[in-house]
Amino acid sequence: MRVGACGLNYVDALMCAGGYQIKPQLPFTPGSELAGTVTATGKDINDLKAGDRVLTRGGFVSVVARPRSSIYPIPNALTEGQAATLWQSYSTMLFAYARASLSADQTVLVLGASGGIGRAAIDLAHSRGARVIAAASSDDRLKSCGEVFGHINYSLEDLKVRARELTKGDGVDVVVDPVGGDLANTALRALDYMGRYLVIGFAAGSIPQLPVNQILLRNRNVIGIDWGAWSGSHSQEQENNLRTLLTMAERGSITPPEPQAYAFEEAQTALDDLMNRRVVGKAILVP
Ligand SMILES: NC(=O)c1ccc[n+]([C@@H]2O[C@H](COP(=O)([O-])OP(=O)(O)OC[C@H]3O[C@@H](n4cnc5c(N)ncnc54)[C@H](OP(=O)(O)O)[C@@H]3O)[C@@H](O)[C@H]2O)c1
Repeated sequence: MRVGACGLNYVDALMCAGGYQIKPQLPFTPGSELAGTVTATGKDINDLKAGDRVLTRGGFVSVVARPRSSIYPIPNALTEGQAATLWQSYSTMLFAYARASLSADQTVLVLGASGGIGRAAIDLAHSRGARVIAAASSDDRLKSCGEVFGHINYSLEDLKVRARELTKGDGVDVVVDPVGGDLANTALRALDYMGRYLVIGFAAGSIPQLPVNQILLRNRNVIGIDWGAWSGSHSQEQENNLRTLLTMAERGSITPPEPQAYAFEEAQTALDDLMNRRVVGKAILVP
C-alpha cells in the first residue's frame, strides 16, 4: 500500500515527548492510522486490487505491507485525509457514547470541541439525535465546529453558568472532557440529574481532582474512558465499531472534518503544533 495520509493524534505527540502512559522502546516509529492506495496484493487475495483506496493501522511510513485482515476499504464519501483521521478519535467516541448510553434529545457538552476528540464527539452526538453545546478557548475555534445547539467560549465564559443558561436551568446530560485541568470542576457542576461525565484525556496538562460530593449530588456518574486498552483486549468489538463508522460515513450520517495537511518532512512541526494548540480540527502527514 502506498500511503497518502498518516493521521496525527495528540497521543503521538505525547508518546514522542515521553509523556504517554505507554513508553515504547527507542527507536520507534510514531503514528497509528494510515490511508492510501493498494499497489499490489498477495496471490490469495481476490477482494482487493491495485488502485483501491484503503485504511489500516501503522506508524508514519510512506509504503507498508499489511495482512488482508487489517485492511479496510475507504467509502467513496471520504477523502484519504478524512479516512486517515477517523480511527482513533471516532472509535473512542463511539465507545464512550455507548458507555454513557447517549440517546436522542439529550444534551452533550463537549470541551476542546474543535480538537480531534471534540469534532468526533460533535459528529457522533448529532448522528444519535443529541443536542451539542460546543466549548472551546476562542470564537475562531468554535466557528470551526459547525452548526450546534450552543457555544461556550471558556476563555471568557463560565462553563457551568452558560451551560445551565443554554439548558434552561437543567444542566447537560453528558460532558465529554478530553481537556481536564481547571475546566473539569465547573464542567462537572454543569451536569443534570443522573448526568454522565466522560473522562477522556488531559490535554491541558494537569489531572483534575473532582469533588466527590458533586458526584453524589444529583446522582451523577463519572465514567473513565480508556479506549486504547479496551480496543486491545476487545479486538473483535473494535473491528465491529470501525465497520460501523465506515458504514455511517458511507451513508452520510457522519462527516469527519477535512484535516490540515503537513508534508512528511514537517512531522516535528506538526506534532509541535498539535501539542501547542496551533491545530484546529485534525492534521495529517502527507508522504
Ligand atoms: N481516553 C482515550 O481512550 C483517548 C483516546 C484518544 C485521545 N485521548 C486523549 O484526549 C486528549 C485530546 O486528544 P485530541 O486528539 O482531541 O487532541 P487535540 O486534537 O489536540 O485537541 C485537544 C484540545 O484540547 C484543548 N486544550 C486545552 N488546553 C490545552 C493545552 N494546554 N494544550 C493542548 N490542547 C489544549 C484544545 O482546545 P482549546 O484550545 O479550545 O481549549 C484542543 O483543541 C488527549 O489528552 C489524548 O491523549 C484519549
